[in-house]
Amino acid sequence: MENDLQAIVTQAEAILTAVRSRADWEQAKATILGPNGSLTQAAKGIGKLSKEERPAFGQALNQTKKKVEGCFKTSLELIETQADINSLGEKSDPSLPPVPHHLGGTHPLTNVRRKVVSIFRKIGFTVAEATEVETEWFCFDALNTPEDHPARDAQDTLFFPADSKWSNIAQNNKEHHVLRTHTSSVQIRTLFKEKPPLRVIAPGRCFRRDTVDATHSANFHQTEGLYVDKNVTIKDLKAVLDYFLKELFGDQLETRLRPSFFPFTEPSFEVDLKAPNLGKLSNKWIEIMGCGMVDPEVLKLVNLNPDDWTGFAFGLGIERVAMILHGIDDIRHFYQNDQRFLSQFSNAT
Ligand code: PHE
Repeated sequence: MENDLQAIVTQAEAILTAVRSRADWEQAKATILGPNGSLTQAAKGIGKLSKEERPAFGQALNQTKKKVEGCFKTSLELIETQADINSLGEKSDPSLPPVPHHLGGTHPLTNVRRKVVSIFRKIGFTVAEATEVETEWFCFDALNTPEDHPARDAQDTLFFPADSKWSNIAQNNKEHHVLRTHTSSVQIRTLFKEKPPLRVIAPGRCFRRDTVDATHSANFHQTEGLYVDKNVTIKDLKAVLDYFLKELFGDQLETRLRPSFFPFTEPSFEVDLKAPNLGKLSNKWIEIMGCGMVDPEVLKLVNLNPDDWTGFAFGLGIERVAMILHGIDDIRHFYQNDQRFLSQFSNAT
């Protein structure tokens, strides 16, 4: 009988050498200590023994049980320690040189915005900023845009509900807040704050309800420019824009002004450019921005006498510049955060 018990200890030790996981361990335990396990079965043998033999067997049984349980305990500790080690991943060697990793870079639209701002800074423009939430008055009325102008339609502009509250954007009676449809509202905010002569550039995010397609996005970026001084003429406008566009697209660039209409400039123009270094778009006239001489009505509204002051304004789409510069044909690439796209513009090392 006692030999049988010793055999069970040996059996337990043998099974446990092959145990690698908690599940293996449970199974091994059932084989020895479970209801049908070898030790449980051996214990039942006590019934066949004489009264005298029983105490010695009982003692031996207890000792065997302790030994076997000790083996299982040690085995479980080993399994758990190994599981902890495995969960830490591969061993690292701190003496190896560091693995190079990418720090990330700035977004192509950020790069273009910075470039545009730095070009204008060189000729004395400063940066003006305002909120993306605007009132209808600053976005349209102050810019001489009549009540029935299509741009004010709910189809084109994102309006906030009548009772929306923006503590930092004062509102007149019943007028609505809107998400600004262009950065031109910054012209008005600047003209109320600063006295001419002034030269500002206002980069920022704009929103329109345009259907989203390859060239339009409900959210896009513009840069506004405003120059107000004495005796400013269309010649100044053309000279400033030519300088700017040549800095951006290269010296071989040609530009032309095409008559257009904006409610807040008179006369108004679209600027087209043509250059030999623009890939598929080389040597074709491409529309790049809107501009014009500040309408006298706008000057009057901000308490400037149009007989004393004149100025020009322009508005440029940042996405449009980036698309032309880099030959990108779908505006949606800018907003999808796809590393394969973004990393091509990465300026980080
Ligand atoms: N705000 C106009 C637009 O979004 C562009 C513009 C700005 C035109 C300034 C003239 C002067 O289309």
